[in-house]
Amino acid sequence: MSYTVDDIEKMVEPARVHRKVYTDEEIFALEMQRVWGRTWIFAGHASEVAKPGDYKTFNIGQQAMIMVRDRDSNSIGVFYNRCSHKGAKLVGDGSGCAKAFRCPYHAWTFKTDGTLLATPPTKTKASTGFEPGDPAYNLVAAAQVDNYRGFVFVNLDANAPAMQPFFGDSLSSIDNMVDRSPESELEIAGGVLRYRHDCNWKSFVENLNDNMHPMATHQAAIEACQGYANDLPEGSPVPETVSILGPFGSSYDFFDEMSHVVFPNGHSYSGNSVSIHSAYPPVPDYVAAMESAHGEDKTRDIFSCARHNTLYYPSLTIKGAIQSIRVIRPISVNCTDIETYTFRLKGAPDEMLQRTLLYSRLINSPSSIVGSDDLEVYQRVQAGLQGMGNDWVSLERQQGNDVEHEDGSTTGMGSSELPFRNQYKYWLQWMTDTQPLKIKA
Ligand code: FES
Ligand SMILES: [Fe+2]
Repeated sequence: MSYTVDDIEKMVEPARVHRKVYTDEEIFALEMQRVWGRTWIFAGHASEVAKPGDYKTFNIGQQAMIMVRDRDSNSIGVFYNRCSHKGAKLVGDGSGCAKAFRCPYHAWTFKTDGTLLATPPTKTKASTGFEPGDPAYNLVAAAQVDNYRGFVFVNLDANAPAMQPFFGDSLSSIDNMVDRSPESELEIAGGVLRYRHDCNWKSFVENLNDNMHPMATHQAAIEACQGYANDLPEGSPVPETVSILGPFGSSYDFFDEMSHVVFPNGHSYSGNSVSIHSAYPPVPDYVAAMESAHGEDKTRDIFSCARHNTLYYPSLTIKGAIQSIRVIRPISVNCTDIETYTFRLKGAPDEMLQRTLLYSRLINSPSSIVGSDDLEVYQRVQAGLQGMGNDWVSLERQQGNDVEHEDGSTTGMGSSELPFRNQYKYWLQWMTDTQPLKIKA
């Protein structure tokens, strides 16, 4: 079947959405075009392509892409990973450093700025119409590429609004994460931890700011942590595992107090004045390095902002307070890859990176006792939504209590489903916009 605008409008109500939004293959295909095709998608961090010729591949739904630092200009470009000859995927999945990209099929070779460098010698090209200097034979660049403090985003639609207005004030969370470095610079440490989730991409995105699930979904992990802490000899220092895992067991009231701030275009964060990251013990050498770099007042301001997850809808979520990000890569309607990256704060003692890595292992990795709980419920949501008994998914918590502000943001209690209602408001706007994408700038 082909969905009309009218059909799609009927799937989203102010406080509920139809289950097809998570389970229907045609909706997924439309999302990849209309939502992922015209919003700003996270490509990677500049430190992943630190040297000229460094590249990495990634996908935006079905679109295979390459991010590369050009050898001549040193600027970062993003191209469709498709040879301009017969369309073969030019670069195999992964990362590396290239002098040029040579296609495995007939050896057409491209410079790191996407221009066609060479084709094999042949006597048969005369009078064929093939003109090596013709830009039609270059790699096709993503319509728009921009970089905010090292975070590189792309947009496949030349008609889409620019990056900074699209993200608006939500960029303050990236600012806080970068400002936590004494040198105001981040660097990805280690590779990517890629974790396949058998669920629709939106189940993951919605869970990020679902403050009413930890105490239920993660009950076993919380009890294990509490048991471990209780068995420690009296007077023992609090192990870092306990200071990281313990706050997941906070009360409903605590998570309610974490509140939500949402922005136009689906972005949001939770943990405005207090979050599960607020009470980490200070690392004295780090505090000293920050105060020497930024001064005492600014350092206090930076540390007082310990937000939980900030969502850059639809593809990126960051945790500034622990220097970890997760990237959403949809594969199909019921399959999503989640990529976790950890960051070194340049100029900070190594203990800070060790804490970030510990957090990643404890909470986000496939062997985590927290992330595996979430995966189980995502899979159960996907399985349950296949059932016909009830067509609707509820988003009603605290509806009517949201507070709109003059700066364009809206706030709500931590128990509110405001972030989900906000996401679907913009999802519906994009999904009912039938204008084709303008692929080339
Ligand atoms: S498809 Fe790439 S050189 Fe022929
Ligand atoms: Fe969770």
